[in-house]
Amino acid sequence: MIVTEAIEKGIDVAAIREQFPILKRQVKGKPLVYFDNAATSQKPQRVIDALVDYYSGYNANIHRGIHTLAEEATAAFEATRDTVKDFINASSREEIIFTRGATESINLVAYTWGRQNIKAGDEIIISTMEHHSNIVPWQILCEEKQAILKVIPVNNEGELLMDEYRNLLSSKTKLVSIVHVSNALGTINPVEEIVDAAHDAGAVVVVDGAQSAVHLDIDVQAMDCDFYAFSGHKIYAPTGTGLLYGKKHLLQAMPVFLGGGEMIKEVTFEKTTYNDLPYKYEAGTPNIADVIALKTAIDFINEIGKENIRNHENELLAYATFYLEQIPGLRIVGTAKNKVSVISFVIDKIHPQDIGILLDNAGIAVRTGHHCAQGLMNCYGIPGTIRASFAMYNTKEEIDALITGLNKAIKMLL
Ligand SMILES: Cc1ncc(COP(=O)(O)O)c(C=O)c1O
Repeated sequence: MIVTEAIEKGIDVAAIREQFPILKRQVKGKPLVYFDNAATSQKPQRVIDALVDYYSGYNANIHRGIHTLAEEATAAFEATRDTVKDFINASSREEIIFTRGATESINLVAYTWGRQNIKAGDEIIISTMEHHSNIVPWQILCEEKQAILKVIPVNNEGELLMDEYRNLLSSKTKLVSIVHVSNALGTINPVEEIVDAAHDAGAVVVVDGAQSAVHLDIDVQAMDCDFYAFSGHKIYAPTGTGLLYGKKHLLQAMPVFLGGGEMIKEVTFEKTTYNDLPYKYEAGTPNIADVIALKTAIDFINEIGKENIRNHENELLAYATFYLEQIPGLRIVGTAKNKVSVISFVIDKIHPQDIGILLDNAGIAVRTGHHCAQGLMNCYGIPGTIRASFAMYNTKEEIDALITGLNKAIKMLL
């Protein structure tokens, strides 16, 4: 039934599930229901194969070698850069810097652009719904530079208070760093509007795309953000891969980050000159195999089509929201009008962790806790939530299993 519905919308969920070997496994004697996709997505066989193909067929260090294996590895690695460029619609491959993930990308900006441009008394704006990786790097920078961190408040639905944001902006604002999609609430923030207002105030904008790259069509030129970061492991690619997009003129003007091989043009004991973009920010041997497999993951997403995936995920979101709301004592945290397929909720008189343990006994993987958004949890006066996040391979039957599992768990715990 579900599969038929999905096929009509252009996505064959049964065929997609076949491509994810982990979905065949059992947990505690029950079929795995994987609803922890916002933490990391599962990997299709072809992504796993890409790693094996590299290590068994053309493992070599890149860029420096002239032998066949090095040339093949370099070509495959650089092909990912072109694919990522198109995936986010950057204007040039020089704007695509490979990192270990969104955390490293944001830190890269803080340690380079931040240290060059932030001075005492300057202001940096983030929001209440930031992930720790988009709070801590700016706190470190502010402490070092005696700059001031300002925080955009949110309403009860989990939406940014845009008027308050505009009030925070001033000539002192040098940087706005904002999450595109909240990992804890699922809220899609109006990034274009945020960027426009920040630019009017003369500030540079970093967009944390860790949760948006997998669900939304990303066009960094239309968004006009100055930097955009995402992690490969959340878009069906291996861990240890990520992207920092930066506008070319900013990347060119920024100081270097890590020093070492690859990021240099010429080294003497007196002076070093640095490589051109993007290699200026890619010191040392990169994560070659995983970056190659990142291309496979993006090709896979493109083949199915982001819009088709989104339609399916939104259907799951609506279905789950409807049935969760029927459970007495359950409250959804994050009910923004614009949301992706992430549902956080709390249940009266029950700790999220207890629910998580009982659901795991039923083979259902959800995330419980503060989701690295302690600031947001404090703001809402809750220790954490239970979070179910859906991907292209999830089904309504799995949501039915979640609802049954929750009802059983609540009965046991109350
Ligand atoms: C919104 C958001 N930003 C940043 C990150 C950090 O990503 P990573 O741990 O892959 O660097 C995450 C990870 O959950 C996230 O959800």
